[in-house]
Amino acid sequence: MNKLRKITLALLGIAVLFMSGTIVSAAPFGSKSDVATAGKIWNRLAAVLMVGPDRINVRPFEGTEPHGAIQQVMASKIMINGRKRRVIVKANHLGEGISVATVYDNPNKFLKAYTIMFKMKKGYDPANKDWFWMKFDPKGALLKHPKGMPLAGKIAKGSEKGCIFCHKASGGEDLETLSEK
Ligand code: HEC
Repeated sequence: MNKLRKITLALLGIAVLFMSGTIVSAAPFGSKSDVATAGKIWNRLAAVLMVGPDRINVRPFEGTEPHGAIQQVMASKIMINGRKRRVIVKANHLGEGISVATVYDNPNKFLKAYTIMFKMKKGYDPANKDWFWMKFDPKGALLKHPKGMPLAGKIAKGSEKGCIFCHKASGGEDLETLSEK
C-alpha cells in the first residue's frame, strides 16, 4: 500500500470514528453525566434499602410487558444533592412458573432488572415531566441499549420506543402508569 492510500484510509477511519462519536453523544441518554447521575441515585437507593438483595420486600403483583411478569413497585423520596426528590423503583421478575408467592418468598431468585424513574429539577425535560429514567441489572450495573448506550437519562426521547414513549401513551398525567393523577 502506498503512503497516500494509507493516509487516506487513516483519515477516513478518523472521520468515521468522529461521526459515530457525535451520533452517540447526540443520544438523549447514556452520556457520562447521565451515568454519573444514575450511579448517585443507585447508591442512595441502596442505602435506604430500595434496591439490592436486602431491599424492603414489598408485595409483588402481576404486571404486563415489557416489565416483568411479576413486579414489585416502591415509591418514595430520596435526598440527592441536598434535595428530596420523588423516585419510583420497579423490580422486574421473570422466570418459568413464577407467581406472586414464589417471588415474595424469593425476592432475588427471579429478579431480572430494576426500572427506575427519578424526578429531576424543573426544566430537565419539561415535555416529559422532568423524569430521569434508568434500567439496572440486579447488581446495580446499568443495562445497555442494543446500540451500546447505557440506559440512563431521557430514554429514548424522540423515538417511538422506550420508557418515555410508552409511558406517554399508557401513563397518567405525570407519566406514572399506576397513578390516576
Ligand atoms: C411498552 C411500554 C413500556 C415501556 C417501554 C416502559 N414501561 Fe414502564 N410501565 C409500563 C406499564 C404498562 C406500567 C404499569 C405496570 C405494568 O402493567 O407493567 C409501567 C410501570 C413502570 C414503573 C412503575 C411506576 C408507574 O409508572 O406506574 C416504573 C418505575 C417504570 N415503568 C419505569 C420504566 C423505565 C425506566 C422504562 C425504560 C427503561 C420503562 N418503564 C419502559 C409500560 C412501559
